[in-house]
Amino acid sequence: LSRLPLVEGVLKYIKEKNILFCMPGHKGGLGFLKTTQGVELYKNLIKGDITEVDGVDNLHFAGGIIKESQQLLSEYYGSIKSYFLVNGSTSGNLAMIFSAFNEGDKIIVERNCHRSIFNAIIMRKLKPVYIKNKIHSKYDAPFPLDKEHFLYLIKENRDAKGIIVTYPNYYGICFDLQYVIELARNYGMLVLVDAAHGAHFGASKLLPENPLKLGANMVVMSAHKTLPSLTQTAFLHVGEGIDINKVDFYVSAFLSTSPSYMFLCSMDYARFYIEEYGEKDYDELIKICAVNRKRINSLGKFYVLGPEDLRETLGNQDEDNNMYTMDLTRYILNVPKGYSGHKLLQYLRVNKIQAEMSDSRNVVLIFSPFDSSQAFNALYIALKKCDMKTLEQEYVDLMDYDMPTTIMYPYEVMDREKTIMELRQAEHKISAAAIVPYPPGIPIIMPGERIEKKTIAIIEYYLRNNVTVFGINQGKIETVEK
Ligand SMILES: Cc1ncc(COP(=O)(O)O)c(C=O)c1O
Repeated sequence: LSRLPLVEGVLKYIKEKNILFCMPGHKGGLGFLKTTQGVELYKNLIKGDITEVDGVDNLHFAGGIIKESQQLLSEYYGSIKSYFLVNGSTSGNLAMIFSAFNEGDKIIVERNCHRSIFNAIIMRKLKPVYIKNKIHSKYDAPFPLDKEHFLYLIKENRDAKGIIVTYPNYYGICFDLQYVIELARNYGMLVLVDAAHGAHFGASKLLPENPLKLGANMVVMSAHKTLPSLTQTAFLHVGEGIDINKVDFYVSAFLSTSPSYMFLCSMDYARFYIEEYGEKDYDELIKICAVNRKRINSLGKFYVLGPEDLRETLGNQDEDNNMYTMDLTRYILNVPKGYSGHKLLQYLRVNKIQAEMSDSRNVVLIFSPFDSSQAFNALYIALKKCDMKTLEQEYVDLMDYDMPTTIMYPYEVMDREKTIMELRQAEHKISAAAIVPYPPGIPIIMPGERIEKKTIAIIEYYLRNNVTVFGINQGKIETVEK
């Protein structure tokens, strides 16, 4: 008899019955079981895996129930038009960038944007200028863009057509988006927002604001990351100043022509849920998160970051005017220097708690209204009994660095012949790859940028300290000639 390795692997994971402090937002189906409408959908979900038959409309030419559902989505979030996506925020970022920009346009983008954005920049042949990302000096957590650097960039690049930002970042940290949008407007630039982790924003006054309400021109949200919707589902919202015909074309071009109605129905449900129950349930969840944050912090072993930590930035003690905010339904669970975030994530898994991700000093946990008080308590107990000795790890300082010089655009690098060489011989060459140490996950060099002596020193420093560096293979780097 043949085997089913994939099915067996997933069933084994399900049988572990872990507490799911991670995506998807429906938390193993609990989000559907919360309401009578959801229970009905849950029971019939697999039967809802249908295709376009009479009476159920067509995603690519919506005129019936899909259109009606997308209109409700648009009204709830406050867009001009909203789309259901069945290929994740990945497809949303591609469609958004192709709709808003033309070949050869200059854009301003955060340096550690999601790879789907970077891929779209290559495919659309855009000319990126990067906003530097910061690292919180005390907690070694990546922070979003810095106002001062952004202000400098926008003044230096008045010919840019638009700005692409991530709001919030994976850690749930947000910058002052209103400021960025107002400034961009003054310069006649579009603002596109990758809000993959922010589909619940605006549901409660205690959460950061929904980017559409702040005037963003286009916004992508993963429904599956925080809402009760199936994995792969996402929303694209269009605000002012965008050609809807182009968006219609690119959305259709980047989506399967056979979208599962399970996906579509779960998005209809996610919007229904957040509209009907969002405010009350998120207020409640944020209270539970705050209470348990206090309990965990009182253990004196770990530290869950809070709003008061957003002011103390990156080494300088001056009053910071960045006005960062955070998603209070997510924990950045920090371990002291000399201990490992990765080991803590593994420890939690052994104790049947699945966290979302880890870096060298932090574990990120994603909560939704379907997580019970008992689940939070299990986390507290696991942390309380954790033997810190088992988490020990030598501390590696994260390095700041200057932005390299761009010699070529990423799309130009794609078509050049690549030469693989020893890193230490690559001074003054042009990198063909993004070189990204994890942590902090911020590229040291991007394709088309010049490799300097200092760049090599930083990469060697990380390699010496056994940090994973993507883009370096056995001490070798890929380069191109001008
Ligand atoms: C910031 C950000 N943008 C976009 C994506 C892509 O989203 P999806 O997995 O829904 O395609 C992710 C996924 O992790 C993300 O973290």
